[in-house]
Amino acid sequence: MLSDQKEPAKADRVNALIAEMSLGEKVGQMVQVSSDDGTLTDTLRDNIRGGRIGSVLNQVNPDVVAEMQRIARDESRLGIPLLIGRDVIHGFNTVLPIPLGQAASWNRELVQKGARYSAMEAASRGVNWTFAPMLDVSRDPRWGRIAESLGEDPYLASELGAAMVRGFQTDDLTQADSILSCAKHFAGYGATESGRDYNSANIPDTELHNTYFPPFQAALAAGVQSVMTSFSDVNGEPPTASVWLLRKILREKWGFPGFVVSDWGSINELVSHGVAENDCEAAQLAVNAGVNMDMVSNVYASYLQDLVEQGIIDEAWIDEMVAQILGVKFKLGLFEASLDTVDSRLPTENHLNMARQLALESVVLLKNDQDLLPLDIESSQTIAVIGPLADDGYEQMGTWVFDGDAELSQTVLDALKDSHGNSTTVRHVRALDTTRSYDAREFDHARTAARESDVVLLVLGEESILSGEAHCRSDIRLPGAQEALIEAIVECGKPIVLVIMAGRPLVLDAIVDKVDAILFAWHPGSMGGPAIVDLLFGDAVPSGKLPITFPRAVGQIPIFYSHRNTGRPPSKDTVTHVDDIEARASQTSIGNQSFHLDVDPSPQYCFGYGLSYTEFEYSELTLQPLRVKAGSQVEIDVCVTNTGSREGEEIVQLYTRDPVASLARPIRELKDFCRIKLAPGERRHIHFSLPTDILAFFDRDGRKRLEPGRFQLWVGGSSEADLIADFELVG
Ligand code: BGC
Repeated sequence: MLSDQKEPAKADRVNALIAEMSLGEKVGQMVQVSSDDGTLTDTLRDNIRGGRIGSVLNQVNPDVVAEMQRIARDESRLGIPLLIGRDVIHGFNTVLPIPLGQAASWNRELVQKGARYSAMEAASRGVNWTFAPMLDVSRDPRWGRIAESLGEDPYLASELGAAMVRGFQTDDLTQADSILSCAKHFAGYGATESGRDYNSANIPDTELHNTYFPPFQAALAAGVQSVMTSFSDVNGEPPTASVWLLRKILREKWGFPGFVVSDWGSINELVSHGVAENDCEAAQLAVNAGVNMDMVSNVYASYLQDLVEQGIIDEAWIDEMVAQILGVKFKLGLFEASLDTVDSRLPTENHLNMARQLALESVVLLKNDQDLLPLDIESSQTIAVIGPLADDGYEQMGTWVFDGDAELSQTVLDALKDSHGNSTTVRHVRALDTTRSYDAREFDHARTAARESDVVLLVLGEESILSGEAHCRSDIRLPGAQEALIEAIVECGKPIVLVIMAGRPLVLDAIVDKVDAILFAWHPGSMGGPAIVDLLFGDAVPSGKLPITFPRAVGQIPIFYSHRNTGRPPSKDTVTHVDDIEARASQTSIGNQSFHLDVDPSPQYCFGYGLSYTEFEYSELTLQPLRVKAGSQVEIDVCVTNTGSREGEEIVQLYTRDPVASLARPIRELKDFCRIKLAPGERRHIHFSLPTDILAFFDRDGRKRLEPGRFQLWVGGSSEADLIADFELVG
């Protein structure tokens, strides 16, 4: 029996419907099939009519969707509409920056708007459910799916993930252009060992609670109504079969009211994991754990009815599972939705402008020697534009963009010609066919173009297929002969601006010192070109900050800012380099510290880092009160001054540390942030209110602990901010 105190009438409708359903019809609601060829087969038609299917994914032909819904509503016995699912990961027709790029904007409102517009585009094709946002905290850039993530930090991922949920669902799920959001992949998928997709994850319970769960809790608080299980086993237990994760944590502890869908085939994969003997046992394990819907395994359709009839699964449990699905269908207003063919609108100018703004705010300026950027029009009359990604509308869209319209993409070359074609001469050489190519035959042309130009714009990186699901890399430097291309251009002695488009942080150690400026643009989506050109010429000022640490070497991974201190933290002055060790030096533990002998222990670029064309200074950090009672809040004031000569936007970041606790805590943790715009010379007082609850952490048993004592607090422009103050938490 479904009971819903907020919406008793809907719960009554669900219960009335369940009372009328046959066991076969109940199981049907728990079955999701794929249909992606734009047609409606006779089998699918029959299965919908027979009430044997509750959801279809990947069908985006609006006429087919409308016909499927009509059959479900008018021709099936009980008229139950379908959920139509699709991965709307970073845009639909209009492609936004990859989620990792959006995270670099640290802009809650804009990220929400991005999801809103994407939902509108998707809904216009009949889609009423997206499998987004992906909330897997990840600290391994080798993992291809880091592109779909919101980075390494639980707080940033929570804030932006919740914004996406609000954007997709709005506060009225019955609106024709609101779509159901899905928090995925529950849980721990981002910790996949060695960054190899689908690999096992070993995560201590404390870390699950403190690091991997918070974004899911934030999505629940934002009203998400569906959750997807993950592929990886966590500590030996695949989440699709985990009673602990799905029943104890998600339902009992967090009170999740919606429904859980498996990932693609993750129910029958329980057999490969080695926790189920066969598909039938896999179905039994998944349903018992609380997976409401089977995404394409077909094992619920094959075995659930028998399992109930044999008394192995209680029908009352199936009723509960089905009620949770139907409850969401009612919340979405699907029973009342119009059956007219949905009108498939093209993206409007607004959508492209939003994509441009999001791309602009997601680009991170990593380096800018001698203020080469913004380019000075007078001294940049001739520009060599070199590289495989300078004019490739498809590749700039990034991973997992099934509906992305490459025709909408505006490349760097397009944008440069459009906006500066009259005032500059552009010499374009692709130089490498793809980012993976080793064919250096065009390097001579590239050199000639560079020599004949005032400045070189290299647009390099990774093609979209090098990140995303199952596209992991063990070597995350620029692929192919791109480093050699940089060397070749360096020989020409011209100033070099490197624009990188990629699905993950790259190891840039070998090239960082060879170029003058670096703009890291992720895969920026449809409007990447105009956004980048605006930044190059100073029509806009970079403001993105890294949502993830950039390592100097793959061997440093995992490297992230919120690590624990260890008993022997490295100190800058005492790091030994492998070349400085004398032959036969004696082995002693005295003075030993936690570092690698062959790489500086610091990251190449830290979390929260990003330059601007102006500078910001932080001062006058004050806290009130200095002794704060648990349950109240600390009021924080800080003064930020734009000390440069241009207007700019800064992301003000607030970090804390609990230096002494019953479990060692991270050396810093992000607790709040805001984006501000300051005119040259402008000073502004920024205020944060920090509730003490945010200082709590979870122990091994998942109990929340708020431990009294001294806390440190920093405010500044990156995770290495040095403006510090202390306060004391009293019980
Ligand atoms: C992915 C999910 C995705 C699903 C449906 C799976 O392979 O892991 O993230 O939502 O496919 O396309």
